[in-house]
Amino acid sequence: MPTHKIIVAIDGLSSCGKSTLARELAAQLGYNYIDSGAMYRAITLYFLRNNVDLSDPAEVINAIANINLSFVFNERRNASDIYLNDENAEPYIRDMLVSEKVSEVAALREVRSFAVAQQKRMGRRKGIVMDGRDIGTTVFPDAELKLYMTADPEIRVMRRFQELYAVNHEISLDEVRNNLELRDYIDSTREESPLHRAADAILIDNSNLTREEQLKQVLALVNERIQTTDKQH
Ligand code: CDP
Repeated sequence: MPTHKIIVAIDGLSSCGKSTLARELAAQLGYNYIDSGAMYRAITLYFLRNNVDLSDPAEVINAIANINLSFVFNERRNASDIYLNDENAEPYIRDMLVSEKVSEVAALREVRSFAVAQQKRMGRRKGIVMDGRDIGTTVFPDAELKLYMTADPEIRVMRRFQELYAVNHEISLDEVRNNLELRDYIDSTREESPLHRAADAILIDNSNLTREEQLKQVLALVNERIQTTDKQH
């Protein structure tokens, strides 16, 4: 039986299946799954509701001081719901309105330092799978296993469209495509912790992998890293 828990950091572009993999991996390992994107989305929801002016650092800092984010496990989803102050924000954070603003909000230094500090605390006891854009580079640069996921752009658009169409029949393919392209552009070119593959991250292209195949591949990598970690202690 392995004795040491590790940190699995998963980064990649929008809608490339990071959260599906992370959730299944955490369930198999008995680890915590943290969706770091949900934090940026919840912060964005708060900013939108309170008309926070993103160009005014003082206003941004004041707004952040009023935000408390927490995760509460939801058995039905087999994942944690994010709470914005005392409200379950999960039903609102995937809305297009939030998706359209989130990359701009996530590019702000004040926002990132707030979220990253909390993410680092959540990883103190290891046994965590976290997905996002800067997990292997900034949040957990010493993670035992880093993955960088990618998939063909059109496959990513179709996957996200199907997810959103299931709850909103008004959504169009173009709207989804434009949003993914814009977010990927902002996320990869921003000054603060831009999305890029860490030198020691393993590349996984899941364009042609089933969920089962992907999980099997990654579980083998995790088990290898756990064994190495065990030997080192
Ligand atoms: O699910 P999807 O890949 O579309 O996005 P997400 O993980 O929910 O993240 C939403 C947005 O939050 C991203 O487009 C980034 O702008 C931002 N984000 C970030 O900057 N850093 C992270 N670690 C996670 C998300």
